[in-house]
Amino acid sequence: MLALLGLLPFLAGCKSLPPGKPLSSLTAEEARGRGVFVSACARCHNAYETQALHGPSLYGVFRKPYLPSGAPARDDRVTEVILHGRNLMPPAGGDLTQQQLQDLLRYLHTL
Ligand code: HEC
Repeated sequence: MLALLGLLPFLAGCKSLPPGKPLSSLTAEEARGRGVFVSACARCHNAYETQALHGPSLYGVFRKPYLPSGAPARDDRVTEVILHGRNLMPPAGGDLTQQQLQDLLRYLHTL
C-alpha cells in the first residue's frame, strides 16, 4: 500500500509518458551530453522527474509536441533557448562548444 501511494504523484505528474532511455544504455555522445547537462543545466532542471526546479522539468522534453512555453519541441527552438536564455534562464551559449551543444541535444532526446 505504501509503495502504491509513493507511485501516485509520479503517475499523476507524468501523464503516462513512459520512462526515457536508461542512463546505462546511453551512447558515447549521449553520455558526453549528460556530462554537459549535469554541469550546465541540472541545477535548474530535473531530467528524470516531472517536478520543476528553478525551471520546468525536461523529462520527455522531445517526446512531447510542445515545450513548456508552447513553442514546438524542436532542436532549433531548444538550441535558441540554450544559446540565448529565456526570461529567468541565463544564456549558456558562450560556455559551450559546438560539440558540447550537439552532445547535449542528443542527450536531451533520450529523456
Ligand atoms: C539558472 C537556472 C537555469 C539554468 C542553469 C538552465 N535553465 Fe533552462 N530554464 C530555466 C527557467 C527559469 C526556464 C523557464 C523560462 C520561461 O519560459 O520563463 C527554463 C526553460 C528551459 C526550457 C524550456 C523553454 C521553452 O520554450 O519552454 C528548456 C528546453 C531549457 N530551459 C533547457 C535548458 C538547458 C538544456 C540548460 C543547460 C544548458 C538550461 N536550461 C539551463 C532555468 C535554467
